[in-house]
Amino acid sequence: KPRVFSAMQPTSDSLHLGNYLGALVNWVALQDDYDALYGVVDLHALTVAPEPALLRERTRRTAAQFLAAGVDPERSLVFVQSHVPEHAELAWLLSTFTGFGEASRMTQFKDKSAKVGESGTNVGLFTYPVLMAADILLYDTNLVPVGEDQRQHLELSRDLAERLNTRLGEGSAVVPEPYIVKETAKIYDLQEPTKKMSKSASNGKGLIEILEEPKKVAKAIKSAVTDLDTEIRFDRETKPGVSSLLSIYSAIDGRSIDQARRGLPGQDVRPPQGGPGRCGGRLPHPDPRQRDGVDRVARRLDTVLDEGAQKASAIARGTLERLYDRVGLLKPQ
Ligand code: TYM
Repeated sequence: KPRVFSAMQPTSDSLHLGNYLGALVNWVALQDDYDALYGVVDLHALTVAPEPALLRERTRRTAAQFLAAGVDPERSLVFVQSHVPEHAELAWLLSTFTGFGEASRMTQFKDKSAKVGESGTNVGLFTYPVLMAADILLYDTNLVPVGEDQRQHLELSRDLAERLNTRLGEGSAVVPEPYIVKETAKIYDLQEPTKKMSKSASNGKGLIEILEEPKKVAKAIKSAVTDLDTEIRFDRETKPGVSSLLSIYSAIDGRSIDQARRGLPGQDVRPPQGGPGRCGGRLPHPDPRQRDGVDRVARRLDTVLDEGAQKASAIARGTLERLYDRVGLLKPQ
């Protein structure tokens, strides 16, 4: 079976709707036909200097949400990145194949470091995409299901894989393909519907956490920014708010945009009252059972993560040994 790898950072208590629709839904769908590995990338999270107790807690919570969303540990390996030391080892090797200029061109790094200034940034943030490439290449990954914001990072992973094959010989690395589903590749902030939904960018009201109380989710949807006319139509350019709600509706409900559009009765769009239009309506919220799901699976977590790390490590060792040998590192006797 071809292989799938993807991962999320344990940087919040709850995943948000962008993580869920942009990535997690596809992880679940792909596990049938692929040999799948899904990671909680705690080493990546270190780049934002999390509080230690919080990082530990969020690592478990993030894994629990993978399972609650339908990642099945019988079919997929779920593990914590730091439990598989090969990730950091391969990242070092790959860093010696990465151009300084190449790494400097990563837009996420440029955006993040522009925000905090040079003194606030760290080398880990700079080499973040190299560690990500290590995550992917370590498992000879064919397909990487992610949201649009990871496209450039994946491009670097592909370039590195090709470079390994050129310099170290064919068969050194598998060149991974992105799996980015157009309709859900970018879920937008409910308050600023031209920006992507993100835990760091949002003021909170524009973000839907999948573990949020259904009532609060409904409220956030009802107070989502739309526009001043009453027409419900999909048009990213002129109607970003309405289009964003239609995408979310359609993605959750499995209806086409057009069906979703007709499912929103006209009277649910309230006339503007001196501010931006508000679109109330019948938009569903994420399945509330996910909340119970998190509790239910918590007990199984340790076993799942242990087994996941052991099996992942066995695959990773093989790849690392192959590459260590090809670059000329002396094998310990
Ligand atoms: P992270 O933890 O920021 O996000 C996890 C996943 O959610 C997707 N995503 C979105 N999709 C659609 N709309 C949005 N608004 C939105 N916000 C987030 C992300 O694209 C991602 O798929 N660098 C990665 C973690 C990572 C990784 C990897 C991923 C590390 N190593 C190897 C794949 C393969 C990240 O920060 O994701």
